[in-house]
Amino acid sequence: MATEKPRGLYYADYLQLERLLSSQRLRSGADGPPAHDEMLFIIVHQAYELWFKQILWELDAVLATFRKASVPEEELGQAILRLGRIVEIQRVLIQQVDVLETMTPLDFLDFRDLLIPASGFQSVQFRLIENELGMRRADRLQILDAPYTSRLSAEDAARVEASEKEPSLFDLVEDWLERTPFLHFGDFDFWREYRRAVETMLAADRASIRGNPTLTEDEKTRQLAGVESTAQRFAELFEPEPGEPATAGGRHFSRRALQAALLIHLYRDEPILHLPFRLLAILADIERNFTTWRQRHAQMAMRMIGTRIGTGGTSGSEYLGRAAERHRVFADLSALASFFIPRSALPKLPAEVRSRMGFRFGAP
Ligand code: HEM
Repeated sequence: MATEKPRGLYYADYLQLERLLSSQRLRSGADGPPAHDEMLFIIVHQAYELWFKQILWELDAVLATFRKASVPEEELGQAILRLGRIVEIQRVLIQQVDVLETMTPLDFLDFRDLLIPASGFQSVQFRLIENELGMRRADRLQILDAPYTSRLSAEDAARVEASEKEPSLFDLVEDWLERTPFLHFGDFDFWREYRRAVETMLAADRASIRGNPTLTEDEKTRQLAGVESTAQRFAELFEPEPGEPATAGGRHFSRRALQAALLIHLYRDEPILHLPFRLLAILADIERNFTTWRQRHAQMAMRMIGTRIGTGGTSGSEYLGRAAERHRVFADLSALASFFIPRSALPKLPAEVRSRMGFRFGAP
């Protein structure tokens, strides 16, 4: 019988499998009957924490790129690949809920009370991800008038609080957007041209409804009211009340950053704007996936514990449902489509701007 390990690096040593695979300690079975499904419950949570670690690994690298005074073009592509990886990991995280849901509520009840007062609410890595993305304390739901860190150990709370003080991805992307050239370029003023194009588009929409012989007067009134509500949304974009956000939910970009995000989306076919467009699209994906996970997790909590309070003491699935609506960071990016106009209606870029935006190949 072989007792010696083969020469060289050994698989189990490299992956520290002894530690990893002896880290599942069931609480059931000690003073009462063992609960078969507790193993699944622990492993699924541990798998989540491992993926959270990988997300933070990617996020930290992306933050380092965006912390630079000006983001080097070649690093932008790398940052986009890393954020794309986060999107794929999120898909796994959402799917993993299905695995945990093979446990029935009754099987969960076999060991649930042994977990009190521990809860996913105390996941430090989850809080770090939220904060690094840009969630602010003031935007969080209040739980029993206590800060969200109140259920953490002093050491964990200090780590989470420290992450609030660092510039988040939201802050850094907002700065980067504000620095975008091309909003003003010589005589070209993107915002003025875009506003004009929107007004032309809305006027054409109204005229086409009024002149449509197939519509009854009632139908015309209804459709015109629809155009007016679109016009109202645009009006808010152009002339916001002080402090009033242009889009609903979560944090909001400064006006200048929002303008730049729109410019990037509308002119994304220009080579120089293509990578910035991919970045904004991926951030919107991350936002949507985060919300999807939150909704899925809230549904799972409802299925497992109904309307009971959570082991961490919140109102349970009711809290989780509200958090899914409220705890949002890049909501502006996912709501941007309301302000798109068709390519055919886009103001033409002056030749000089286009030439600056294009890739050129020529002798050095
Ligand atoms: C049987 C399965 C699960 C149930 C019934 C459940 C239930 C809950 C409840 C009720 C809360 C609210 C806090 C509280 O009062 O405890 C919560 C929070 C949380 N849970 Fe779960 N959970 C389950 C599985 C998971 C899994 C697998 C993860 C993965 C890490 C997870 C991560 C979290 C996180 C991060 C929070 C904080 C969410 C926030 O504050 O927005 N949960 N969970």
